[in-house]
Amino acid sequence: MTRKIWMFDTTLRDGEQVPGAKLNLYEKLEVAQQLKKLKVDIIEAGFPSSSVGDFNAVKEIAMKVGNTDDIIITALARAVEADIDAVYNSIKYAKRPLIHIVLGSSDIHVDKKFGKSKSQILDIGVDAVKYAKRFLPDVQYSLEDATRADFEYLWATIEAVVKAGATIINVPDTVGYAEPDEYGELIFKINDRLKNLNDKVLLSVHCHNDLGMATANTLAAIKNGADKVECTINGIGERAGNASLEEVVMAIKTRSSVYNAYTNINTKEIIKTSRLVSSLMGLDVQVNKAITGDNAFAHSSGIHQDGLLKARDVYEIMSPTEVGLDDMELVLTARSGRHAVKNALEKLGFNEMTNKQFEEIFEAFLELADVKKEIYNHDLYVIVENYYAKND
Ligand code: KIV
Ligand code: ZN
Repeated sequence: MTRKIWMFDTTLRDGEQVPGAKLNLYEKLEVAQQLKKLKVDIIEAGFPSSSVGDFNAVKEIAMKVGNTDDIIITALARAVEADIDAVYNSIKYAKRPLIHIVLGSSDIHVDKKFGKSKSQILDIGVDAVKYAKRFLPDVQYSLEDATRADFEYLWATIEAVVKAGATIINVPDTVGYAEPDEYGELIFKINDRLKNLNDKVLLSVHCHNDLGMATANTLAAIKNGADKVECTINGIGERAGNASLEEVVMAIKTRSSVYNAYTNINTKEIIKTSRLVSSLMGLDVQVNKAITGDNAFAHSSGIHQDGLLKARDVYEIMSPTEVGLDDMELVLTARSGRHAVKNALEKLGFNEMTNKQFEEIFEAFLELADVKKEIYNHDLYVIVENYYAKND
């Protein structure tokens, strides 16, 4: 049976932690409205205890974007009462608010960051969940650095916080240390026990990309029972970033029989969302980035262009229109054949050329392509206009 995977977007919290990517209130609101159009299930709007500005932005998003039943608004708190108060007081305006608590779970965090014993940390986590439950029914508990934690301690914590009322358990690969088989196995083991403990609790994952495996780890987790995944647009986030929403969503969609799952994401809004986040945050998307990079649907080799023009699926596993691009973009080079150049010209509206005219224009194209390497639509216009002017 196909399962729904809940999409939790943390572009405005983990994504905004990128140096220089700070947004003002209006920009955050723009991004949140666009995330709603994209149809994410949950928006993590910020970290309200970090500044008055962040508190106000989360509050505004809760009021203006969280005003309908089809979206959940959350924000992050450390396991301390002041943080939980700030989260509640900013998200309470949303129709469906969720408190998100994070606390370390690995020995490294317990010893070196907190200087406490494991049982002390476990008690702090349980108390934080109980405190949050006084305000709201929905509470997510994140076991920071779970992939470097001792499994039995991880499970003891999960059991205790679920008994205290946590409704979502999140298993972050905080430092991007996991690899897919290992992470899949961890999620499988937790899922197996969690379903026996309380099958209403959602199992969530949050992967970082330090070894370039955030998307692969997220997908491995889905195969092994994760119900919900945390991602960012363009994969932005702390250090090497987070799992990229568009990659996870399009992998689930394109290979749905592998994952036996679907998301509610309106994939036609992906490119628009990517470009909005990139321009407002001033973070360029690398050209070869899967799904949202400028070259993701651009075919430049002559052999590929020729194949595509015969049938799209020769070199295309998904249609650019599925992610909101108008159509495939052929970047022409000196190796592009006549077929590709003719097709590009026709798309620009040059349908009336004789064979002789086309041959001469093709010669002019090759001359320019030798010098310029890549030929775009505006170059084709110039070539044709020059040709027609000379041959008037
Ligand atoms: O990477 C991490 O562990 C986090 C938590 C707050 C979920 O961002
Ligand atoms: Zn993170």
